[in-house]
Amino acid sequence: MAVPLFASSLEPYRARLDEALSRVVESGSFILGPEVAAFEEEFARYLGARHCVGVANGTDALAIALRSLGVRPGDEVVMPSLTFYATAEAAVEVGAVPVFCDVELETACVTLDTVRAALTPNTKVIVPVHLFGNVAPAPELRELGLPVLEDAAQAAGATLGDRKAGALGDAATFSFFPSKNLPCLGDGGAVTTDSDEVAEHARMLRFHGSRDKVTFEEVGYNSRLDELQAAALRVLLPELDGWTEARRATAAEYERQGLAEHVTLPRPVEGAGHAYHLYAARSDRADELAAALKEQGVGARGYYRVPVHRQPAMQRFGAGAELPATEELAATNLALPMGAGLSPEAVGEVVEACASGST
Ligand SMILES: Cc1ncc(COP(=O)(O)O)c(C=O)c1O
Repeated sequence: MAVPLFASSLEPYRARLDEALSRVVESGSFILGPEVAAFEEEFARYLGARHCVGVANGTDALAIALRSLGVRPGDEVVMPSLTFYATAEAAVEVGAVPVFCDVELETACVTLDTVRAALTPNTKVIVPVHLFGNVAPAPELRELGLPVLEDAAQAAGATLGDRKAGALGDAATFSFFPSKNLPCLGDGGAVTTDSDEVAEHARMLRFHGSRDKVTFEEVGYNSRLDELQAAALRVLLPELDGWTEARRATAAEYERQGLAEHVTLPRPVEGAGHAYHLYAARSDRADELAAALKEQGVGARGYYRVPVHRQPAMQRFGAGAELPATEELAATNLALPMGAGLSPEAVGEVVEACASGST
């Protein structure tokens, strides 16, 4: 039996998605209509945040949120280098300077200490990334006295204590890209915040820097979540907690079936309910093991092998950064199959493939 890396399917929701999409087509309202307004309210309520602003994707969400938090050209934004490139790209796009900090080897997330080591008098915002669905300690980081913007693109459904990732900082951003834990049927994203001011600014920026479509106060973006995507998200949001439970059950099953004998297992941050967007284990022979798994029909992949600070486009910001845990994780992480639809038998196949690939 082949086991894919992303083991989730929208097939069970097909009829409800079709119905929601038809409703939008019949309404004739495609941009900033009732579906977006309703999804924004429902997602904010789900997170326990006061506001949600739907935008076109998670990259725009970051750029819009950074500007809404007051980031101006030349300001420094502290972030991990071990993340998807878009985290840094958005900062550069708004004229800011990304300053890369290290992560903790066991959790793949920034810590109070790794962030503190990167602060300077020019730091304007801290961007912890909830990498792989783990939850960086955003409430602790707020004690540093600077605005904290959670990059929660990979962490829909994750928790810290009794709070949801995406409602832990001064603002947060999400991506609803189809492979994410809360997917839409194309590109989509959101900014969430408790601040009236940040939310209003983000709403203005997503519509060309205008509040009323008559006066344009800033150079903004054409970046809206559209009605079709919002309607799909409204069908899928009620499933998110169930999917997250299923992902956690899969992680527990990997442990129960002895995966730790063959690779190092991912560790949730203390107090975190990991959302396991990716089940990123570690191995000193990660690429060799991935090749052996592939031969046995098991999907596996290393992520961010070249971390952001060493990407060609980030040379002028990342040169000279010394990030030992980032480098080690970049070389050794190995994502194994994960998803809401993975059976214990499929987990057994992965564990067996890891056992035979490790010898
Ligand atoms: C951590 C992180 N930040 C930002 C993004 C950007 O989201 P999008 O692809 O919706 O622009 C992603 C998506 O891949 C991501 O994983």
